[in-house]
Formats: sequence, structure tokens, C-alpha cells
Amino acid sequence: MTETLRPRRSALYLPASNPKALAKARTLDADVVILDLEDAVAPEAKGEARAAAVAAVAEGGFGRRELVVRANALSTEWGADDLAALAAAGPDAVLVPKIAGVEDIAAYDHALGNAPAHTRLWVMVETCAVVPRLDAVAACAASSRLAGFVLGTNDLAKEMRARLTPARTPFLPVLTAAVCAARAHGLVVLDGVCNEFRDLTAFSAEARQGLEFGFDGKTLIHPDQIAPCNSVFSPGAEEIAWAEGVVAAFSQPENVGKGVIKVDGKMVELLHLDQARRVLAIAGAIAAP
Ligand code: COA
Ligand code: MG
Repeated sequence: MTETLRPRRSALYLPASNPKALAKARTLDADVVILDLEDAVAPEAKGEARAAAVAAVAEGGFGRRELVVRANALSTEWGADDLAALAAAGPDAVLVPKIAGVEDIAAYDHALGNAPAHTRLWVMVETCAVVPRLDAVAACAASSRLAGFVLGTNDLAKEMRARLTPARTPFLPVLTAAVCAARAHGLVVLDGVCNEFRDLTAFSAEARQGLEFGFDGKTLIHPDQIAPCNSVFSPGAEEIAWAEGVVAAFSQPENVGKGVIKVDGKMVELLHLDQARRVLAIAGAIAAP
């Protein structure tokens, strides 16, 4: 499975200070598990949460789930210790909060200097300052560990003084800009959380919106959100059938070498063949044991 084709439909946050949630996360069907040391952990529990996250990385048991730890910002009293401990622990990625520009990427990349090569840097997109700089930040992927954007819509709403309505209208330009910057520079890009964890109808609508915007998946706060999220972000039977039809049509002897053909009465170009191959590769990666 290549890095870009790894399924990241569902990324479940949990406070690293919650041992019950940590044990449960090893059994849940989330593609990514994010152990939080930041906003979900009270100041008095920061040290204990850091130790629990480091122990969880060492212990493993997460199977095919990608294991990410969200650190406190370097500007806080816990940040430097978090980054040093996580560089030594070596999770799949370290997620860092509230970055404002390229200088932050350099600082976090430096702080992870001793981490193993497989440890990637993911960053929260959740400040007003970073919004006009998303492309420049994403471009740092070429010369650093940076490999992912995660939307932080709660902090963004707070900073913007915007309202988190079901349609998310105030955030749509940011979602588009984040996806475009991520795609331009080959980053993973995950949508923000839906706080309404008891309302799975509202959740599914928001997840579907994220899929339509091009996100790889969505960050989650509760186990009940995993199944609907995986369902939204998995290619459906109809999409898979379309992709198989496109691949089959382009491999017909009469179509070899053509740039545009007709499938089921619709125009299909080579760009659709690329999309179809990606759908089949992702579906294959999801189905793999
Ligand atoms: N990850 C793993 N397990 C979780 C979980 C999570 N994010 N959230 C809840 N659970 C577990 C509970 O421990 C409980 O386990 P049990 O059945 O073995 O007792 C079960 O799922 C049901 O939990 P429930 O009672 O419905 O929720 P809660 O009231 O215990 O917790 C929250 C609600 C919101 C506090 C909790 O879901 C949570 O902490 N979410 C993550 C918050 C976070 O990390 N935020 C930072 C990023 S925005
Ligand atoms: Mg935040």
C-alpha cells in the first residue's frame, strides 16, 4: 500500500489521559487513531497523558490503524517536552496545533529532528493567520517531514468569531483552500470534527460534504461516528462499477491510444481513467485484510 493510497476515511481523537478510550481504540474500525495531548487534556493531566501516549506507541497493538499523537504547541509550557518525548517514541505522525506559517513548520521539523524517518509531521489548520498561507505551508512538504493537514474547525470558528452552522458556510473557502494546497503538494488532508456526536444524521451530512470537497477522510470524536464515516468515504458499489467500466472501456482494442471515448452514453477522457484507477486502488486497499 503506497502512502497516498492508505485509507484515512476515519481519524478518531481520544484524550491520551483516558486509559479506557485508549484500550477501546485498539479494537475500533477507525483508519487513524489520534491520541490527544492538547485541548482534550486538562493542564494538570498533561504529564500523565504524555507518558500514556509514549507507552501506547511503544506497546503498539493498533494493527493496521495509523497512530498519530497530537502535541501541545511549542509556545506552551508542555510543547518542548511533548515534542522531545514523541521524537523518541516515533509514532506514524505527530500532529501539531495552531500553526501560523512556514516558520512554524521549520520549528516543528527541527524539534522532530531525532525522530525516526517514518514519523511524519501533520499540522492543524485552525488559525486565521495560516489561511492565506496554506500553499506556502504545504510546499514545505518537499523539504521537511510535513505530510498532512487536519482542519480544526472549532478553533477556526472561535478565532473568526464565526458560527458552526450545519451548512458550514463561513468555512467553505478555507476547506477548498486547504484541499487545493494539500493536493498541490501531495499532503493528506482530513476534515474537522462534528461536535454533534449523538446526531448521526447531521454527522453523515457533514461527512458527505467533506467527501464532496475532496478530503481523504474526517476527524472524529466518538466511536459511534466511525461506521457512518467509513461508509461515506468508501467508494460505493456504483462508483466501483463505473471505475471498472472506464478501465475496461479504455483497454478495448479499438480504444487503445485514444484520449476520449464514450462509456454508457457519456464522454470519458484519460483523466477519468486516472480517477477510475484511484477508486479501484482505494477500494482494494480498504478491502485488504
Ligand atoms: N475514543 C475511544 N473510545 C471512546 C471515545 C473516543 N474518542 N469516546 C468515547 N469512547 C468510549 C467510552 O469510553 C465508552 O466506553 P465503554 O462503553 O467501554 O464504557 C464508550 O465509548 C461510550 O462513550 P459515551 O458514554 O457515549 O461517551 P462519553 O460521555 O464517555 O464521552 C466525550 C464523550 C465527547 C467526552 C468523548 O467521546 C471524548 O473524549 N471524545 C474525544 C474528545 C477529543 O479527543 N477531543 C479532541 C479533538 S476535538
Ligand atoms: Mg484546536
